Amino acid sequence: MDAVAARTARVAALKAQVDARLDALCPPSGGRLTAAMHYALSTPGKRLRPLLLLLTAAQLGQSAETALDAACAVEMVHAASLVLDDLPCMDDAAVRRGQPSTHARFGQDVAVLAGVALLNQAYALLARAGHLPAEVRLAMVEALSGAVGLEGLVAGQALDLHEPVASLAGLREAHHRKTGVLFMAAVTLGGLIGGASLTELLALERFAAELGLAFQARDDVSDAGEVQPDYGAARTTLISLLGHEGAVQEADGRLTSSKRALVAGGPRLEPLCAYVDLLMGERRVAEAAS
Ligand code: IPE
Ligand code: IPE
Ligand code: MG
Ligand code: MG
Ligand code: MG
Repeated sequence: MDAVAARTARVAALKAQVDARLDALCPPSGGRLTAAMHYALSTPGKRLRPLLLLLTAAQLGQSAETALDAACAVEMVHAASLVLDDLPCMDDAAVRRGQPSTHARFGQDVAVLAGVALLNQAYALLARAGHLPAEVRLAMVEALSGAVGLEGLVAGQALDLHEPVASLAGLREAHHRKTGVLFMAAVTLGGLIGGASLTELLALERFAAELGLAFQARDDVSDAGEVQPDYGAARTTLISLLGHEGAVQEADGRLTSSKRALVAGGPRLEPLCAYVDLLMGERRVAEAAS
């Protein structure tokens, strides 16, 4: 097997572990609420954030088993963010991951509760990871809850919906908060589990922030080809500011910077560079298939 095939197989195996563990942590049995939570988690996602966490922890010498519940907690937060993002009062999206969105399938009331329950289950999962030292668990809860809160996702979504941005800097800030900060939390949790040094943690944050901007730039490019919900006013996107080619260049530039940050983080992090294109490539493959 050549190196690319080996990395592809490794990522696929890690993804399968995440899928199986999520299934066990949030089974479909029970009532309508747990069925909705299971649905939100089990529709086919790329599992990028948990993969980033697992690969980071592995790079620092920790097994997938050690980091698996933390990886699932990050995916629960992500799934919750998608459930809420799709609601009629937000982006009003009837389809997610090629299937009816959670509210389209279960109703808005259940979808809101499922999103809230997933968020809370995520923090509980981190707090209960008894095989990790208490100070690591505490730091993980702080990092993940911070990524959701006023510095991160929730604030980013509010900017996206209510604060018209006209400048590139403003749009990058919104993208950073709604997407980049959760990427940062994923690698930070991997770093905390792996006992990363402060220099390594800072490099990981820089890496994930750049990767988040690259990812959201590609999302804007791919969204541009779709019918968009009616937000009441034209929204500023990377395409409207930079044009299609400019947005693609922005994504490529950010991707290059993300790898540079890993190299700057030292020899334990540098090998992660080889996974960046593979993980971002999954996005293209998934889009091409949908
Ligand atoms: C979609 O994220 C939401 C954005 C931040 C653009 P992903 O593209 O990672 O979604 P899934 O989990 O693979 O469906
Ligand atoms: C969503 O951004 C980011 C989240 C935090 C969920 P988008 O609204 O652009 O994501 P998609 O395009 O619906 O996946
Ligand atoms: Mg949105
Ligand atoms: Mg959306
Ligand atoms: Mg989008």
